[in-house]
Amino acid sequence: MIKRLWARLGKSSLQPTDPVALENMPEHVAIIMDGNGRWAKDRGLPRMAGHHSGMKAVKRITMEADRLGVKYLTLYAFSTENWKRPKAEVDFLMKLPQQFLEIELDELIANNVQVRMMGHKEDLPSFTLSAVEEAIVKTANNTGLVLNFALNYGSRKEMLEAIKSIAADVQQERLTLDDINENVMADRLLTSGMPDPDLLIRTSGELRLSNFMMWQLAYSELWFTDVYWPEFSEKHFQEAIMEYQRRARRYGGL
Ligand code: FPP
Repeated sequence: MIKRLWARLGKSSLQPTDPVALENMPEHVAIIMDGNGRWAKDRGLPRMAGHHSGMKAVKRITMEADRLGVKYLTLYAFSTENWKRPKAEVDFLMKLPQQFLEIELDELIANNVQVRMMGHKEDLPSFTLSAVEEAIVKTANNTGLVLNFALNYGSRKEMLEAIKSIAADVQQERLTLDDINENVMADRLLTSGMPDPDLLIRTSGELRLSNFMMWQLAYSELWFTDVYWPEFSEKHFQEAIMEYQRRARRYGGL
């Protein structure tokens, strides 16, 4: 009951025994969830089994982020480049949001989590989009953790669309060149109204951004692990946060 109340207030339910400090908690954590396929291959399983296990990791880390008092969790679930994968895999990945929300939405609601999505909606199958949109509507008034799914997301496309919308406003004299600044750009990105990620986690040993939040990650702390996403645990998440808490962020200053 107290935990629920605490969650309603958007507070952390961190215990004194937790290794993570309540102070200097990252407000926004973004994750590139990588290594599902390799995790499955190592076990002689089909790639889809890796994605299915990855879905369970999404639940685990969402709950842990909520418990720790992280305010925004952005998860890279499908990129604009992932359409290049075999059709069977794309079809499977497109079914995961619906499957996840069918199982977890009630618990997300009970925990005051607000679901959001950032990505290019136009190419998503209608069953994927409607499942996500239903969750968005049902959780719109929740005030706890914001769980932001990056679905059919690509940073270059996002920036191009922002630039085109600014150019159109200049062309129609709603904006002058002098009006254009970082805030004008940020307001037209899919993260408008959200703080930039404080911490980016990428699993599976790959050291790339892969077209993910390239504007928003300008001053984020980056943390990489060799652990494949399906086995990424609460403990690994805490390790990333503890490392973040040890770093000094200078934003180009001294
Ligand atoms: C990258 O691993 C992972 C993806 C492209 C998909 C990520 C999706 C999930 C973790 C599940 C999403 C769940 C919900 C609820 C939306 P990879 O397949 O590239 O792995 P590999 O590099 O080892 O082949």
